[in-house]
Amino acid sequence: MLSHECMQLTIQSLNCQTCVKQRKIVDSLHKTTKITPVQLQTLIHVGNPKEKGKIELNLPLNILETSLGITNVNEILKIHPDDIIKSVQLVRDRANRKISFEIDRSIFIKDVIENCYYPEVNFKPKNIVVEYSSPNVAKPFHFGHLRSTILGNFLSNLNLFIKNNVTRINYLGDWGTQFGFIKVGLKDLNYNLDSLKTDPIKILYQCYVHANKMAEKDPEILERAKAEFVKLEQGSANDLKHWQQILNFTKNELVKTYERLGVTFDEYNYESMYSQKDIGDVIDTMRKKHILKKQPDGKEVAEVGTDKTVTVIKSDGSTLYLSRDIAAAIDRFKKYNFDKMYYVVANDQNDHFYALRSILHKMDLPWSDRLVHVKFGRIKGMSSRKGTSVFLQDILDECKELIVKRQIESPTTKVPISNDHISDILGISCVIINDLKQRRQRDYEFDWDKVLQY
Ligand code: ARG
Repeated sequence: MLSHECMQLTIQSLNCQTCVKQRKIVDSLHKTTKITPVQLQTLIHVGNPKEKGKIELNLPLNILETSLGITNVNEILKIHPDDIIKSVQLVRDRANRKISFEIDRSIFIKDVIENCYYPEVNFKPKNIVVEYSSPNVAKPFHFGHLRSTILGNFLSNLNLFIKNNVTRINYLGDWGTQFGFIKVGLKDLNYNLDSLKTDPIKILYQCYVHANKMAEKDPEILERAKAEFVKLEQGSANDLKHWQQILNFTKNELVKTYERLGVTFDEYNYESMYSQKDIGDVIDTMRKKHILKKQPDGKEVAEVGTDKTVTVIKSDGSTLYLSRDIAAAIDRFKKYNFDKMYYVVANDQNDHFYALRSILHKMDLPWSDRLVHVKFGRIKGMSSRKGTSVFLQDILDECKELIVKRQIESPTTKVPISNDHISDILGISCVIINDLKQRRQRDYEFDWDKVLQY
């Protein structure tokens, strides 16, 4: 059921150490090359097989020969194919040469599932942080967030299964000038806290859209929105309390939808936890280490890579998405001492995570290379069939409705489904499986007919 890339993710996470089939390859290689099994384990990686029903494990020859001084490569090729290792081949890919072991996919999966269960005797659980879903308050929970939720949940379950310590974090976007717009919208539409209790996600979105429309006609609105946000950023106690209440309603509403998906989190974190007043020490460290360079207009930028700069602090001293992520990573390392932290976020934030890692690296934080951006492609053409709803909750509802309709129409249905819960599970399973079936890093076209092919 899993796409090849999900499978790859699985295998990489399991690190294959407990996998009998890989051990078999490692044993044979150890005999012929005398390289230690531990070294071999790290060298072998999962490739992209030409045939669908296969799993390919590759051993790069250049490293074997240049770094490890192995000369008897031909001996490796003499490993006999059997019912597990289907073939052993020398493959040339431009300047790289590798030995490729082909393994039957179904045998391999069965083995991974059956034998990776029990950790090795000297297994030391790793501290794994998985950050996923992470929608923005008052903005639609789009399909990128859903993909992140599905993949992140999968990655967390997998790590839990192999007995690592897993912390699941949902990092909600709740900071920036757009939240000033929401406050303006709330006032203009006369919503009070009580009215928000019933449907906070949609009401907040409505306020955001409303205030933006007002701003198109009246430039004054932008100034009001900015001023509202400055009050929050500068820590006005009343405004913050009000904002926190709004966040709580939003969170409770989200939890209900996650429950439908069978997804949970250990922590809800917010970008607002890392506002200007909270992260002074992090900014100071960056300044002291000369990572930040002040520009004539007052903003502070950092160099990433050879010829790129990114803004870290705005000219008025306020924080940005990137600065908050820098502070959040440092905070999480203090709390969880992670061996790996996965950010399950779409491909389009590649540059952001590259910048994040390089700035942490410049700050001399030795753990900066433990951050992994698990990226994925975009889902194109995703909207509800009716073309109206943009919220996850509505998409899931629609899926449920369509499932019921299909079952009624289907000539093979004997007893129409009248249990709401079952239809919900069926609808949601369709959405999840359709997503896991796709190649992770490719964009794909959302097609209701394919989704509903249960
Ligand atoms: N809220 C962001 C968005 O919707 C995603 C956050 C991803 N996580 C992170 N640590 N930057 O685009």
